[in-house]
Amino acid sequence: MEHISIYSGDRVISRVMVERTVAALEPCLERYQHVFTVMDANVAMNCPAAMQIAEIMNRKGAPGKLIDASEEDKSMDTVMDICGWMLDNGADRDALVLAVGGGITSDMVGFAASIYKRGVRFAYVPTTLLAQVDAAIGGKTGVNFERYKNMLGLVRQPEFTYVCPEVLESLPHREFVAGVAEMLKTFMIEDNGNYQKAVDVLSEMLQGYSILPPESAADYWTDCVSAYSEELLYLISEAVKVKAGVVSRDQYERGERRKLNLGHTFAHAIETLAQREERDISHGEAVAMGLVLAARLSDRVFRGDMDTPTALEGSVAIDLCDCGLYPECPFTIEQMAEIMAKDKKAEGGKVHFVLLNEIGDVTTYALTVDEVVKLLK
Ligand code: GLY
Repeated sequence: MEHISIYSGDRVISRVMVERTVAALEPCLERYQHVFTVMDANVAMNCPAAMQIAEIMNRKGAPGKLIDASEEDKSMDTVMDICGWMLDNGADRDALVLAVGGGITSDMVGFAASIYKRGVRFAYVPTTLLAQVDAAIGGKTGVNFERYKNMLGLVRQPEFTYVCPEVLESLPHREFVAGVAEMLKTFMIEDNGNYQKAVDVLSEMLQGYSILPPESAADYWTDCVSAYSEELLYLISEAVKVKAGVVSRDQYERGERRKLNLGHTFAHAIETLAQREERDISHGEAVAMGLVLAARLSDRVFRGDMDTPTALEGSVAIDLCDCGLYPECPFTIEQMAEIMAKDKKAEGGKVHFVLLNEIGDVTTYALTVDEVVKLLK
């Protein structure tokens, strides 16, 4: 098992355990006496590895709760429901709440645990690729509020995050691919040769899938994720190391952590617009679109490249397409501008955009939304 630590100064504040299968979760829980498990109901139904986790919890006598984990359910109501359940089950200050699910589950459970009795411990078993490389690492917790994503929340670190590719075998192909967008984003920020490795591995995995008829595609995909578990283990752990490093240097996003928002200012606007128009675009899919827009903005700001597409935009779009993503944004820049102006990260009328000097090297750059509209037209 690989242990990746997250630090505050010299102090370890959280650990990520990267392991091929769920079996090694049990020893990780040995030192916790009062564990409360909150699992995404959909994961409980569809992920055989989650059944193994449920068995481990049964052996520990840990109470369990299922939640619905959609963007619509990512609300204070669900957080209150989790807190009420903990209260009813006698959860005390020594409780550990274990979240099993994707990023929506970990965000809500982390938040509930952080406010319950002024804060109890929590840990995550992320069951999506997106949560394994991003959402469940770094301590951001929270819920949507009014029409805005993650508007209420706080940064508080899990005791540990247990990451294993085995749980991805039952993850639907579309959700897996959404996580690929966050993985590639991570390697665009810090490469170490992993960006191209990830594109090569993931496009090889996805090539076979795209030519299969739907009736055999799901089984193929499960086998494929299993067959590539060694490569996935490597790529996931490299992505976790990048994120752990950034969070260790800037836990509260005063500076460097902003880099992790590469493509995200656009992505959040895309998600808000998609929700308004009832279009089905997931976070990862929106991130892929945001990465292409960030590449275009970078070329225009740094290199005066006014081609359409710009050079970097073109190559990023091809990589994302090869990895099964469709990175063309269905909204106009003017539509996105209205939302970006209200971004919770905007300061003094300027938004911190993360721009690419090249793959593996990014810079934050403050621009007004009007400047961005002019540049991206
Ligand atoms: N998802 C970006 C961050 O954790 O900072």
